[in-house]
Amino acid sequence: KELEEVKIPLFYGWFLMSPANEKVKCSAIDFVKTLDTLEAFKKHSADFTGKAEKEVDLEQHFKAKASLHCTTKFSNYGKAEGAKEYAQNLVVKDHFGSVSELSLIAFFVTPRTVGARVSLTKEQLQLWPVDAESSVPGATGLPHGSRAHVTLACAAGVEAVQTGLDLLDILALQKDGQQGELVEMELGSLSYYGEGRWMLALREPICASACFSSSYK
Ligand code: A2P
Repeated sequence: KELEEVKIPLFYGWFLMSPANEKVKCSAIDFVKTLDTLEAFKKHSADFTGKAEKEVDLEQHFKAKASLHCTTKFSNYGKAEGAKEYAQNLVVKDHFGSVSELSLIAFFVTPRTVGARVSLTKEQLQLWPVDAESSVPGATGLPHGSRAHVTLACAAGVEAVQTGLDLLDILALQKDGQQGELVEMELGSLSYYGEGRWMLALREPICASACFSSSYK
């Protein structure tokens, strides 16, 4: 019995391969650097600093992740709800080790996290847990797969799990019809949703090769 529990990983997900991992990291850094220079962003820098007029250095504010992935199931070594069922799911077993293309359709930044929104294909959605969205208060009405993302960076003291919650928060605002202040950028259109929440919808999605696998850390 104990042995069976030990076999379940910390989490499953799509792990970005080289050179996609580096490409996405560079695009994210470019975006964050550009965001920091925008007047529209500077106007709201108090969202990050807590002080009016004080500018924020986003590169200092966040610590970038080294190896990027899109978590499907956080299993917590079998302790998370549904961990065993997910590990035994035939679709999960069949796809284990398979490579597919992740489509990154947006970047988002909040005072806590930087992430990329992932648009999953029908096949990829088969690996997405049924309760990934419904388990989060406030995100119940959002479509299956809405939470799919790659964590790019977190502020000091912030856990990576926050990135998906920040994404759902922004998507819930969008769904309520909040358009936000709009800024057109070369990469796409940038919207501000208040309280330091920014999302850049990419004109051209970024394609990244990724391997479906698991991590034991
Ligand atoms: P994310 O998928 O947003 O990056 P940690 O580094 O904190 O141990 O977490 C390992 C991975 O599992 C991270 O990628 C993290 O977030 C994700 N994760 C951690 N906790 C949860 C959770 N409760 N629900 C969903 N994903 C989680």
